[in-house]
Amino acid sequence: MQTLTITQPDDMHLHLRDGEALKAVLPYTARQMGRAVIMPNLKPPVVSVADAEAYKQRILAALPEGSAFEPLMTLYLTDNATPELVREAKAAGIVAFKLYPAGATTNSDSGVTDLFKLIPVLKEMAAQGILFLVHGEVTDADTDIFDREAAFIERIMKPVLVQVPELKVVFEHITTAEAARLVSEAGDNVAASVTPQHLLLNRNDLLVGGVRPHHFCLPVLKRETHRQALVAAVTGDKAHKFFLGTDSAPHAKSAKENACGCAGMFSAATAVELYAEVFENAGALDKFEAFASQNGARFYGLPENPRKITLVKDVQKVPESLPFCDGEVLVPMRAGGETAWRVEY
Ligand code: NCD
Ligand code: ZN
Repeated sequence: MQTLTITQPDDMHLHLRDGEALKAVLPYTARQMGRAVIMPNLKPPVVSVADAEAYKQRILAALPEGSAFEPLMTLYLTDNATPELVREAKAAGIVAFKLYPAGATTNSDSGVTDLFKLIPVLKEMAAQGILFLVHGEVTDADTDIFDREAAFIERIMKPVLVQVPELKVVFEHITTAEAARLVSEAGDNVAASVTPQHLLLNRNDLLVGGVRPHHFCLPVLKRETHRQALVAAVTGDKAHKFFLGTDSAPHAKSAKENACGCAGMFSAATAVELYAEVFENAGALDKFEAFASQNGARFYGLPENPRKITLVKDVQKVPESLPFCDGEVLVPMRAGGETAWRVEY
């Protein structure tokens, strides 16, 4: 049987939630990943160093016995952020600030209303070498949901990079050819995370034959040409600028199968396997380890993980659902289907 042994990956974009939900989902990531960048969009959001330190302790307490998994903490950027907060965050080992434009996605009501008012804060991030993680979508009602990422590039991302050219930016969960191009053409201070769903699915998987609420996430799935551009980006000449970030975002089944279904796909249980398929299908398995385990660590200034993981080319069933919290279940990405690879534990 074909096997693939690689340095243990990191998940550079992960939603772990809190409380019982955290306990339910964390073990899936902890068994695959060495580290993960933990998103701060709790309710209320993680806005202070004290919030992040307390959240980190709750994550560590929820880890399975003996796990060496390391959470990398982030702060939620608000209109009230100051250069002093940036210095305090850097000193405390916070790896990044996360921009949610107000109203862009799940729990983003405390998000930034005008990023240009925060230029001094961004300049301090650049000076401190702390990363700026961007949910890159405009949120005005006049911009079509499928165009929101491309509009963000022109209206926000490019002008911000002109004003703060040395800012270390991760364009998170990119979904379009425009974003792949921006990142490919920018300096080495600009990189991107890419999710399994945006590499494997397109908007037909969301809408053809009936609405598939478990394929609804933000940014929303785009047309096939964009998916192809993302695969080309993660396997191409500038592949060193792109890395694994699942955006695994658990919501209870009842909140997804709902008249107003929540955005977010839960991929953490089989993330490495799903990404392996992308690279295999593109004839680029030789580029997989860099994407999963090296490019992100390098961009974050971290050493590569000391451990290895082995994938086996062997069909693995994905459960229809997994236990969650409050007696609810979670429907994972590819529920009831199969992955072409499985990770050996
Ligand atoms: C995320 C969530 O549920 O927290 N949802 C999603 O669709 N990706 C928020 C986010 O990252 O946009
Ligand atoms: Zn996210």
